[in-house]
Amino acid sequence: MKLSTFNASQSPDVINLFTKVFSDSEGQDEGETISRLVSELIITTDEHDIVGFVAILEKELVGCIFFSRLILPSEKIAFILSPVAIATDQQGKGIGQQLIRHGIEYLRIKDIDFVFTYGDPNFYSKVGFQQINEDIVKAPFKLTQPEGWLAQSLQSGVIDAMVGSSVCVKALNKQEYW
Ligand SMILES: CC(C)(COP(=O)(O)OP(=O)(O)OC[C@H]1O[C@@H](n2cnc3c(N)ncnc32)[C@H](O)[C@@H]1OP(=O)(O)O)[C@@H](O)C(=O)NCCC(=O)NCCS
Repeated sequence: MKLSTFNASQSPDVINLFTKVFSDSEGQDEGETISRLVSELIITTDEHDIVGFVAILEKELVGCIFFSRLILPSEKIAFILSPVAIATDQQGKGIGQQLIRHGIEYLRIKDIDFVFTYGDPNFYSKVGFQQINEDIVKAPFKLTQPEGWLAQSLQSGVIDAMVGSSVCVKALNKQEYW
Protein backbone atom coordinates (compact mmCIF):
# COMPACT_ATOMS: atom_id res chain seq x y z
CA MET A 1 0.00 0.00 0.00
CA LYS A 2 1.18 3.49 -0.86
CA LEU A 3 0.51 6.54 1.32
CA SER A 4 0.92 9.94 -0.30
CA THR A 5 -0.11 13.57 -0.07
CA PHE A 6 -3.53 14.38 -1.54
CA ASN A 7 -3.48 16.36 -4.75
CA ALA A 8 -6.40 18.22 -6.33
CA SER A 9 -6.57 15.88 -9.36
CA GLN A 10 -7.75 13.17 -6.91
CA SER A 11 -10.77 15.25 -5.78
CA PRO A 12 -13.50 13.32 -7.68
CA ASP A 13 -12.25 9.94 -6.41
CA VAL A 14 -11.84 11.28 -2.88
CA ILE A 15 -15.35 12.78 -2.79
CA ASN A 16 -16.77 9.46 -4.09
CA LEU A 17 -14.89 7.54 -1.42
CA PHE A 18 -16.21 9.70 1.45
CA THR A 19 -19.76 9.62 0.06
CA LYS A 20 -19.77 5.85 -0.30
CA VAL A 21 -18.08 5.04 3.03
CA PHE A 22 -20.37 7.29 5.09
CA SER A 23 -23.51 6.18 3.19
CA ASP A 24 -22.55 2.58 3.98
CA SER A 25 -21.80 3.23 7.64
CA GLU A 26 -24.31 5.93 8.58
CA GLY A 27 -26.90 6.18 5.80
CA GLN A 28 -27.39 8.20 2.65
CA ASP A 29 -28.06 11.55 4.37
CA GLU A 30 -24.76 11.38 6.24
CA GLY A 31 -23.05 10.33 2.98
CA GLU A 32 -24.35 13.47 1.29
CA THR A 33 -23.42 15.67 4.24
CA ILE A 34 -19.83 14.41 4.24
CA SER A 35 -19.67 14.73 0.46
CA ARG A 36 -20.58 18.44 0.76
CA LEU A 37 -18.11 18.93 3.60
CA VAL A 38 -15.20 17.38 1.68
CA SER A 39 -16.00 19.30 -1.54
CA GLU A 40 -16.11 22.54 0.41
CA LEU A 41 -12.92 21.76 2.32
CA ILE A 42 -11.06 21.15 -0.95
CA ILE A 43 -12.47 24.18 -2.76
CA THR A 44 -12.59 26.86 -0.07
CA THR A 45 -9.54 26.18 2.09
CA ASP A 46 -6.32 28.08 1.46
CA GLU A 47 -3.52 25.67 0.55
CA HIS A 48 -1.56 26.69 3.66
CA ASP A 49 -4.48 25.71 5.87
CA ILE A 50 -5.12 22.17 4.66
CA VAL A 51 -3.27 18.96 4.00
CA GLY A 52 -4.69 15.60 2.96
CA PHE A 53 -3.29 12.11 2.58
CA VAL A 54 -4.47 9.16 0.51
CA ALA A 55 -3.91 5.41 0.74
CA ILE A 56 -3.65 3.61 -2.61
CA LEU A 57 -3.85 -0.19 -2.84
CA GLU A 58 -3.33 -1.81 -6.24
CA LYS A 59 -4.10 1.54 -7.98
CA GLU A 60 -7.37 1.89 -6.02
CA LEU A 61 -8.02 4.75 -3.61
CA VAL A 62 -8.82 2.97 -0.34
CA GLY A 63 -8.44 5.75 2.23
CA CYS A 64 -8.27 9.48 2.70
CA ILE A 65 -7.78 11.91 5.54
CA PHE A 66 -7.75 15.70 5.85
CA PHE A 67 -6.21 18.01 8.43
CA SER A 68 -7.14 21.70 8.41
CA ARG A 69 -5.90 24.66 10.42
CA LEU A 70 -7.42 25.34 13.82
CA ILE A 71 -6.52 28.82 15.06
CA LEU A 72 -5.96 28.80 18.82
CA PRO A 73 -6.15 31.72 21.22
CA SER A 74 -2.40 31.36 21.82
CA GLU A 75 0.78 31.43 19.72
CA LYS A 76 0.63 27.63 19.30
CA ILE A 77 -0.02 26.19 15.84
CA ALA A 78 -2.70 23.53 15.48
CA PHE A 79 -4.56 21.45 12.91
CA ILE A 80 -7.73 19.42 13.25
CA LEU A 81 -8.15 15.96 11.75
CA SER A 82 -11.50 15.68 9.96
CA PRO A 83 -12.78 13.74 8.18
CA VAL A 84 -11.22 10.32 7.56
CA ALA A 85 -12.60 7.40 5.57
CA ILE A 86 -11.37 3.93 4.72
CA ALA A 87 -13.15 1.98 1.93
CA THR A 88 -15.84 -0.18 3.51
CA ASP A 89 -14.30 -3.46 2.29
CA GLN A 90 -10.85 -2.46 3.61
CA GLN A 91 -11.84 -1.42 7.14
CA GLY A 92 -10.41 -3.15 10.19
CA LYS A 93 -7.07 -3.96 8.52
CA GLY A 94 -5.05 -1.19 10.16
CA ILE A 95 -5.15 1.22 7.18
CA GLY A 96 -6.96 3.95 9.13
CA GLN A 97 -4.39 3.97 11.92
CA GLN A 98 -1.52 3.86 9.41
CA LEU A 99 -2.91 6.81 7.45
CA ILE A 100 -3.56 8.88 10.58
CA ARG A 101 -0.03 8.17 11.92
CA HIS A 102 1.44 9.12 8.55
CA GLY A 103 -0.41 12.46 8.58
CA ILE A 104 0.53 13.19 12.17
CA GLU A 105 4.23 12.54 11.47
CA TYR A 106 4.06 14.98 8.53
CA LEU A 107 2.60 17.67 10.82
CA ARG A 108 5.21 16.94 13.51
CA ILE A 109 8.03 17.47 11.00
CA LYS A 110 6.37 20.73 9.92
CA ASP A 111 6.64 21.92 13.57
CA ILE A 112 2.90 21.92 14.20
CA ASP A 113 2.34 22.01 17.98
CA PHE A 114 -1.01 20.27 18.47
CA VAL A 115 -3.52 18.14 16.56
CA PHE A 116 -7.16 18.03 17.55
CA THR A 117 -10.04 15.88 16.43
CA TYR A 118 -13.68 15.28 17.34
CA GLY A 119 -14.70 11.64 17.33
CA ASP A 120 -14.74 8.30 19.11
CA PRO A 121 -12.13 8.30 21.92
CA ASN A 122 -11.87 4.49 21.74
CA PHE A 123 -10.63 4.63 18.17
CA TYR A 124 -8.55 7.83 18.26
CA SER A 125 -6.75 6.86 21.49
CA LYS A 126 -5.03 4.15 19.38
CA VAL A 127 -3.24 6.92 17.46
CA GLY A 128 -2.22 9.12 20.39
CA PHE A 129 -5.27 11.29 21.05
CA GLN A 130 -6.55 11.96 24.55
CA GLN A 131 -9.71 13.61 25.73
CA ILE A 132 -9.28 17.31 26.36
CA ASN A 133 -11.52 19.42 28.54
CA GLU A 134 -12.95 22.59 27.07
CA ASP A 135 -11.58 24.43 30.13
CA ILE A 136 -8.18 23.82 28.49
CA VAL A 137 -9.05 24.50 24.82
CA LYS A 138 -12.51 25.58 23.77
CA ALA A 139 -13.91 24.04 20.57
CA PRO A 140 -15.10 26.35 17.77
CA PHE A 141 -18.76 25.39 18.41
CA LYS A 142 -20.89 23.97 21.19
CA LEU A 143 -20.13 20.24 21.24
CA THR A 144 -23.03 17.78 21.20
CA GLN A 145 -20.59 15.12 22.51
CA PRO A 146 -17.95 16.85 24.67
CA GLU A 147 -16.31 13.47 25.39
CA GLY A 148 -15.32 13.37 21.70
CA TRP A 149 -13.11 16.49 21.93
CA LEU A 150 -9.59 15.05 21.59
CA ALA A 151 -6.06 16.36 21.19
CA GLN A 152 -2.38 15.47 21.22
CA SER A 153 0.82 17.46 21.49
CA LEU A 154 3.26 16.79 18.63
CA GLN A 155 6.28 18.54 20.11
CA SER A 156 7.43 18.13 23.68
CA GLY A 157 5.07 20.67 25.30
CA VAL A 158 1.91 20.00 27.24
CA ILE A 159 -1.32 21.68 26.19
CA ASP A 160 -1.79 24.58 28.61
CA ALA A 161 -5.15 26.17 29.31
CA MET A 162 -6.07 28.98 26.90
CA VAL A 163 -8.61 31.76 27.23
CA GLY A 164 -10.90 32.26 24.22
CA SER A 165 -12.30 30.05 21.47
CA SER A 166 -10.55 28.23 18.67
CA VAL A 167 -11.48 29.00 15.06
CA CYS A 168 -11.78 26.38 12.33
CA VAL A 169 -11.70 26.79 8.54
CA LYS A 170 -14.84 27.92 6.70
CA ALA A 171 -15.89 24.43 5.55
CA LEU A 172 -16.07 23.15 9.15
CA ASN A 173 -17.62 26.37 10.42
CA LYS A 174 -21.15 24.96 10.87
CA GLN A 175 -22.83 23.88 14.10
CA GLU A 176 -24.16 20.68 12.43
CA TYR A 177 -20.65 19.19 12.32
CA TRP A 178 -20.09 19.67 16.05
C1 LIG B 1 -13.10 4.74 11.46
C2 LIG B 1 -12.15 4.28 10.35
C3 LIG B 1 -11.47 5.50 9.73
C4 LIG B 1 -11.08 3.37 10.98
O1 LIG B 1 -10.21 2.91 9.98
P1 LIG B 1 -9.90 1.33 9.86
O2 LIG B 1 -8.83 1.15 8.85
O3 LIG B 1 -11.17 0.61 9.66
O4 LIG B 1 -9.36 1.05 11.35
P2 LIG B 1 -8.06 0.23 11.75
O5 LIG B 1 -8.12 -1.10 11.09
O6 LIG B 1 -6.84 1.05 11.55
O7 LIG B 1 -8.29 0.10 13.30
C5 LIG B 1 -9.22 -0.82 13.74
C6 LIG B 1 -9.46 -0.58 15.19
O8 LIG B 1 -10.24 0.58 15.39
C7 LIG B 1 -11.52 0.20 15.89
N1 LIG B 1 -12.49 0.91 15.07
C8 LIG B 1 -12.63 0.85 13.76
N2 LIG B 1 -13.65 1.66 13.38
C9 LIG B 1 -14.12 2.23 14.49
C10 LIG B 1 -15.15 3.14 14.75
N3 LIG B 1 -15.93 3.66 13.76
N4 LIG B 1 -15.35 3.51 16.02
C11 LIG B 1 -14.58 3.01 17.01
N5 LIG B 1 -13.60 2.14 16.82
C12 LIG B 1 -13.38 1.74 15.57
C13 LIG B 1 -11.67 -1.28 15.74
O9 LIG B 1 -12.36 -1.80 16.84
C14 LIG B 1 -10.23 -1.74 15.75
O10 LIG B 1 -9.77 -1.95 17.05
P3 LIG B 1 -8.87 -3.25 17.39
O11 LIG B 1 -7.66 -3.16 16.48
O12 LIG B 1 -8.54 -3.07 18.84
O13 LIG B 1 -9.76 -4.39 17.08
C15 LIG B 1 -12.90 3.47 9.24
O14 LIG B 1 -13.43 2.30 9.81
C16 LIG B 1 -14.01 4.24 8.57
O15 LIG B 1 -13.77 4.91 7.55
N6 LIG B 1 -15.25 4.15 9.09
C17 LIG B 1 -16.40 4.80 8.51
C18 LIG B 1 -16.28 6.31 8.52
C19 LIG B 1 -15.94 6.88 9.90
O16 LIG B 1 -16.55 6.51 10.90
N7 LIG B 1 -14.95 7.81 9.94
C20 LIG B 1 -14.49 8.39 11.18
C21 LIG B 1 -15.24 9.60 11.55
S1 LIG B 1 -14.69 11.03 10.64
